[in-house]
Amino acid sequence: MGKAAAIRLAEAGANIVLVDLNKETGQQLADELSKKHSGQKFIFKAVDVTDANAVEECVNSASSEFGSVTGLICSAGIAIPSLRLHEVNLKQFQKTMDVNFNGTMLFNMMVLRHFMKQNASGVTPPKGGYTIVNIGSKGSVEGLPSSGAYTASKHGVLGLTRVAAKEYAADNIRINCLCPGLIWSDMMKQLNESGKVEMSKEYLLRQCYTRRYGTVEEMANIMNFLMSDQSSYITGQAIEADGMWAI
Ligand SMILES: NC(=O)c1ccc[n+]([C@@H]2O[C@H](COP(=O)([O-])OP(=O)(O)OC[C@H]3O[C@@H](n4cnc5c(N)ncnc54)[C@H](O)[C@@H]3O)[C@@H](O)[C@H]2O)c1
Repeated sequence: MGKAAAIRLAEAGANIVLVDLNKETGQQLADELSKKHSGQKFIFKAVDVTDANAVEECVNSASSEFGSVTGLICSAGIAIPSLRLHEVNLKQFQKTMDVNFNGTMLFNMMVLRHFMKQNASGVTPPKGGYTIVNIGSKGSVEGLPSSGAYTASKHGVLGLTRVAAKEYAADNIRINCLCPGLIWSDMMKQLNESGKVEMSKEYLLRQCYTRRYGTVEEMANIMNFLMSDQSSYITGQAIEADGMWAI
């Protein structure tokens, strides 16, 4: 989903710092985008979103290399099929919270510092304001059975989005939470193949009224809209893009 968003935002004219754990695919995407959009700048940084120092260094260096920071999409995430809460593996629980919630929190915090610094030094913000899009999930607004850690982490992402939206609305900063339903990606493929009945394609799509997975391109279009001045009066929202998935 992050890759699709980068491709869509590049088409819209953005300069982008791409962040992921996977060095090879990340660098490859940066090279492809640089070749296709020669007047724009694309840099890849291999960062573990759970590492506070690395996140701070990444945002600081992005600001130096681009002159300012105008937007953030927090898409890194993991979904480990789990058990009911009384049987849950605590290590997996902690890891899920670390990547999905703490990673999002750290990036929001570091980028908000730059937005505020830029405001204080009189830098002109983009027309629709500075923007953050946090990727939540249907699990931000519903309880997903057998996904206690994932649901808790994604509720957290929506919670911090709502707080941040209120805290920074008067500073020309908008923060929204995209809550996708069932999207065809590597993550979904792995869940389908996990052997758990409630993660199988047949089981999941039976509960989705459109009877299909969403595409990463459909999510990228929404992210592009939320990042643009077309959405200038939208902040603090949970945007549920789920093909009417009734859990
Ligand atoms: N696919 C779905 O159905 C679905 C539904 C709702 C929400 N989401 C959310 O959308 C986001 C994107 O997921 P996706 O479906 O594209 O999955 P994906 O597995 O294709 O992408 C997730 C990316 O996060 C990166 N990542 C994982 N841990 C990281 C870490 N510690 N530091 C840096 N990068 C890390 C991975 O390398 C990967 O590139 C996630 O936050 C996910 O929870 C996905």
